[in-house]
Amino acid sequence: MGALGLLAMDVPEEYSGAGLDYLAYSIAVEEISRGCASTGVIMSVNNSLYLGPVLKFGSEEQKHKWIAPFTSGDKIGCFALSEPGNGSDAGAASTVASLDGDEWVLNGTKAWITNAWDASAVVVFATTDKSQKHKGISAFLVPMPTPGLSLGKKEDKLGIRASSTANLIFEDCRIPKANLLGQLGMGFKIAMQTLDTGRIGIASQALGIAQAALDCAVDYAEKRVAFGSPITKLQAIQFKLADMAVALESARLLTWRAAMLKDSGKPFTKEAAMAKLAASEAATAISHQAIQILGGMGYVTEMPAERHYRDARITEIYEGTSEIQRLVIAVVITQDKAEQKTGHHDVSNTQHREVAACGTG
Ligand code: CAA
Repeated sequence: MGALGLLAMDVPEEYSGAGLDYLAYSIAVEEISRGCASTGVIMSVNNSLYLGPVLKFGSEEQKHKWIAPFTSGDKIGCFALSEPGNGSDAGAASTVASLDGDEWVLNGTKAWITNAWDASAVVVFATTDKSQKHKGISAFLVPMPTPGLSLGKKEDKLGIRASSTANLIFEDCRIPKANLLGQLGMGFKIAMQTLDTGRIGIASQALGIAQAALDCAVDYAEKRVAFGSPITKLQAIQFKLADMAVALESARLLTWRAAMLKDSGKPFTKEAAMAKLAASEAATAISHQAIQILGGMGYVTEMPAERHYRDARITEIYEGTSEIQRLVIAVVITQDKAEQKTGHHDVSNTQHREVAACGTG
């Protein structure tokens, strides 16, 4: 994948990336996930959650140091925001970073970290000033392994079993002062903007799972004979296949729209949330119906339908649950409505929350 440019798709060529755009990235994540959803998330996390914030918020020096080795597949990165005590409420981070001379000292535990066991670096979020709440969170680049950083056990998961997920435990972990990513106190906004793009990646992963489940169902239904003909001739099966295809195609168009908005430099927070919500729920529903069409054959590991069903489930949870996506969508549409009424354009509106001042590069 590294040799094909799949691990750094929208990274410019000057930093050893493929120099493509997010639409290309979305299509590639979907196709990879169609074969293997675990590989899809490994790819998505490296592209969107690790390289994305370094590219957007890193200094020139940081970009050269922390991007190029992570484009070829020799090294991959990860992203550490969630904690055992906070997932959806991302602003409640209790991991702390304090400055001691020329070093930051990190203490705390990050949870559910995709790629944890395989990563060579992590973008980690920690509180540098508790009194400032989310405005006191900062982002840091930490090499892995490094003294003071240990890995928790590899989680035993329902699906995406080929990707590693584990806690990262920071105990007096010292990193150079220069490893602060972006400005002090801008970590929460860096996390939110990173997740906006990451959600396009997970939506694309869900599309791949959904397409694979639909392909599996159609293939089986064409071959399976019942009541004297292939079950594709039965209206009960035809209606299922039609609904599955509509859900998939709608989610794909939403995902490509979000990617194209990002590519054209327009706000896409709401559209990325819509894409992730629609694609993840479509993946769950389609993989559920695929098993129904396969019957007993859908329930056994001889056929891939049960794997698609297990893999689909996480897409409604990570990078913001479906409930969080609904919240993000509702906040944006109500803010937009309020602005239309007053004629006042609120620059803090979720749709316009670019942290331009935060990017040092
Ligand atoms: N872009 C830029 N800024 C944003 C933003 C966005 N999309 N969303 C919010 N902000 C800014 C706001 O403008 C606000 O700024 P000011 O302080 O200047 O006013 C600030 O952030 C706080 O905003 P909110 O008050 O809306 O924040 P909140 O505390 O209510 O939380 C939330 C909002 C949407 C619920 C957020 O916490 C969230 O997205 N939670 C889900 C977390 C998540 O997705 N975690 C995924 C973990 S990573 C992962 O899953 C990876 C993996 O395994 C593959």
